Amino acid sequence: MSRLDQFPVGASLTLADLENDVHPVLHRLRAVEPVSWLPALNAWLVTRRDLAIEVMRKPDLFTVDHAGFSTAQVVGPSMLSLDGGEHLRHRGPFEAPFRLGAVQARFSGVVAAHVEELLDGLTARGRAELRREFAGPLAVKTMITALGLDDTETSVAAVLGWYDAIVDAVTRVTAGEPVSQAGRAAFAALKDNLLPALKRPPETSLLAAAAGMAGGLSEDQIVSNAAVLLFGGIETTEGMIANALYFLLTQPDILNLVRTNSSLWPAVIEESLRLEPAAAVVDRYAVQDVRLGQAQLAAGELVRVSLAAANRDPAVFANPDTFDPFRPNLRAHVTFAQGPHVCLGLHLARLEAHVALAQLLTRLPGLQLENPEAARPRGLVFRKPPALRATWPV
Ligand code: HEM
Repeated sequence: MSRLDQFPVGASLTLADLENDVHPVLHRLRAVEPVSWLPALNAWLVTRRDLAIEVMRKPDLFTVDHAGFSTAQVVGPSMLSLDGGEHLRHRGPFEAPFRLGAVQARFSGVVAAHVEELLDGLTARGRAELRREFAGPLAVKTMITALGLDDTETSVAAVLGWYDAIVDAVTRVTAGEPVSQAGRAAFAALKDNLLPALKRPPETSLLAAAAGMAGGLSEDQIVSNAAVLLFGGIETTEGMIANALYFLLTQPDILNLVRTNSSLWPAVIEESLRLEPAAAVVDRYAVQDVRLGQAQLAAGELVRVSLAAANRDPAVFANPDTFDPFRPNLRAHVTFAQGPHVCLGLHLARLEAHVALAQLLTRLPGLQLENPEAARPRGLVFRKPPALRATWPV
């Protein structure tokens, strides 16, 4: 039987089906083809939570260390593109400064100050596009602090410029083009700016702290991992905060809950992370011919794990499409992945979400979306509102 006959639901799907109102599609797949072949992706798509976790926890069978991954071609090998011993070597120095206590000590005040400054600039205006004018800049400023770069308007613009050029270069390499001159130049500029920060004392930045512990890593390798932090910390954090704002501003009962009881913030943030993970898909390559669920995968094939689907698996989450901050297993979502590549920045991400949302809603009472339908999160890999235009009384 051909794959198209074996996986008719997968065969019927287009990219548009996977980008917009994806959740009904994922429910259908999970029910009948939990590991399905999708010609539109030229890849397997895994939608059941237990199978998703199996893929993420078995790097010897499903690896990130593959030429198909384009990031390494632009920024060099890093923890994101390595598995096994080399992965541990690259990730190890960054573990301690990203632990909960270390993150709280280093970032609580800094993030609150960034949020306050951003809100000072917005409050009197009465309207803003909160994804690009609030969530995005907060994510960038926080990573600039983490990497020990100067927090000036020019450096924010420069970091965003390098970021855009590197993302563009990675996208082009994925499409089969060579690494662009602009991509190379942007990475070189990022490197020139990071090298002095690496050499400062550990208390000056998270990157300097990691560099102090990176005995076995060369400067180039530290810089490659720092570039990966920048990727990890910008797009996803912007999406995480924008998605949570979308849920809060379209569900007044949830908004009232946290307005009247701020101890519910962590639960509300977890539930938003579950329902709309900003990084909705993670990719692996099959190391050898392997069976996963009912499907037979061939060595070298791309396996895409849908975190969005795993997070709404009805076998684990009752009424999976409902926003319920009181569900008993709130933290069973896999939004930050699992296994060796579990998100390094998850404590920092949660801290940013909490501070940003609590301060925003305190300072802008009466905040409303202009067009909730236009703010609905979408996207295949990165899911977030295209725009979050909001108004408030001044
Ligand atoms: C402060 C912000 C963040 C930083 C600095 C950060 C950093 C990182 C890094 C360095 C990795 C790679 C770890 C490894 O390969 O060993 C990673 C993985 C990951 N992060 Fe984050 N991250 C941040 C926020 C987020 C957010 C907000 C989300 C989702 C809402 C997220 C989702 C993920 C996922 C799904 C992976 C796994 C990728 C994979 O397995 O292929 N991250 N993160």
